[in-house]
Amino acid sequence: MGKQFILLMLFSIATMAIGKAIPKETYLQNISLAKEKVTQFQLYVQDILSGPNVTIIQVAWGNYTLTSPTSFGLVVVFDDPVRTRSNPDSEIVGRAQGLVTFASLEGISLHMTHDIVFTSGEYNGSTLNLVGRNPLLRDYHEFSVVGGSGTFRLARGFVVARTVSNSTYNTIFEYNVTVIHYSFVNQLKIGASK
Ligand SMILES: *[C@@H]1O[C@H](CO)[C@@H](O)[C@H](O)[C@H]1NC(C)=O
Ligand SMILES: *[C@@H]1O[C@H](CO)[C@@H](O)[C@H](O)[C@H]1NC(C)=O
Ligand SMILES: *[C@@H]1O[C@H](CO)[C@@H](O)[C@H](O)[C@H]1NC(C)=O
Ligand SMILES: *[C@@H]1O[C@H](CO)[C@@H](O)[C@H](O)[C@H]1NC(C)=O
Ligand SMILES: *[C@@H]1O[C@H](CO)[C@@H](O)[C@H](O)[C@H]1NC(C)=O
Ligand SMILES: *[C@@H]1O[C@H](CO)[C@@H](O)[C@H](O)[C@H]1NC(C)=O
Repeated sequence: MGKQFILLMLFSIATMAIGKAIPKETYLQNISLAKEKVTQFQLYVQDILSGPNVTIIQVAWGNYTLTSPTSFGLVVVFDDPVRTRSNPDSEIVGRAQGLVTFASLEGISLHMTHDIVFTSGEYNGSTLNLVGRNPLLRDYHEFSVVGGSGTFRLARGFVVARTVSNSTYNTIFEYNVTVIHYSFVNQLKIGASK
């Protein structure tokens, strides 16, 4: 027991994780044969602010934040359900997971970095990585799609977002997503036969 055991455990967990998460043959995808395509879809992200299943919490702030009219320095983490419709009972297709930083001294504005993690439907298992500014009081804001995984490997694009409803229970955001990504069809065996 002791150190060696823990190291061994860590090692097996690490190899397990690597072995499971990325099927070997996908290392061999040939990017020069990949086809670029554009995909557009709409998603609804729900911040649940109260009740037993809150999905967004404050995690850090500084002294300055307490007296700042713009909550400057406040850091918030969220893991929100992502739905197919603006209705809070509609089907969940994923989670929106990430960080919000109140990053403006003048006017409330957020710096946000988050992942859309698909948990069902045709993109199940894939993720989109989003970054951008959210000037809270404006009607619309934009995020950049800076990458992704699975179906969305090498993704780039943009999200136009707006608040479609808000109450003390929740806030629902509409995301119109435009993403350029690649299809790697029929090339899983590249290099594997030799
Ligand atoms: C990828 O495809 C290109 C175009 O067919 C080919 O020239 C290249 O050798 C392939 N690369 C690999 C690693 O198979
Ligand atoms: C909270 O989550 C639990 C477990 O998923 C669920 O059974 C319950 O209905 C949820 N409550 C509300 C108010 O959404
Ligand atoms: C925060 O404010 C308290 C009370 O004024 C002070 O004692 C403390 O040193 C401050 N901390 C920082 C990190 O400025
Ligand atoms: C999504 O993918 C996971 C992991 O492959 C699988 O366990 C799950 O059943 C899938 N969910 C749906 C709704 O297809
Ligand atoms: C998303 O697209 C729909 C349909 O074109 C449009 O009605 C809606 O206003 C758009 N929402 C955003 C946030 O751009
Ligand atoms: C939420 O709704 C209230 C009342 O309709 C509105 O004044 C406020 O600007 C909304 N907040 C956001 C972030 O959209």
